Amino acid sequence: MAQNEIRGVAGQHYAYIKKALNDFKTRNRTNDAGSMTSVASSLSDQDIDNLAQYIASREGRLALNQRVASNRNHARRSASSIQTSRRLAVATS
Ligand code: HEM
Repeated sequence: MAQNEIRGVAGQHYAYIKKALNDFKTRNRTNDAGSMTSVASSLSDQDIDNLAQYIASREGRLALNQRVASNRNHARRSASSIQTSRRLAVATS
């Protein structure tokens, strides 16, 4: 699999990374043609915990997408509350 096709994990949730690495290690997840099984089999529980904390703390596409979505919702809510207050202003004038 080309490197560009491996999905990004920066900013992925701590618990998700931890579960994924544990699942690769214990061979409960095997959809990666063996690359991750061989990476994960060399990791201790402490390594997995450290990696999960580090990856979750990184600013990644996932975190960025969440922020974009939250900004978009914020903009939508602001716009609708501005409309509401205009309507109220018109109604009470
Ligand atoms: C310490 C090094 C590495 C860490 C911490 C790591 C971490 C991860 C994690 C957390 C996932 C799950 C992603 C998800 O479910 O969204 C994953 C998937 C994967 N990783 Fe790694 N990885 C490492 C090294 C590598 C290497 C060296 C290769 C290839 C040579 C590799 C190939 C893959 C592949 C093919 C998948 C599966 C993607 C899929 O499910 O479509 N990883 N990795």
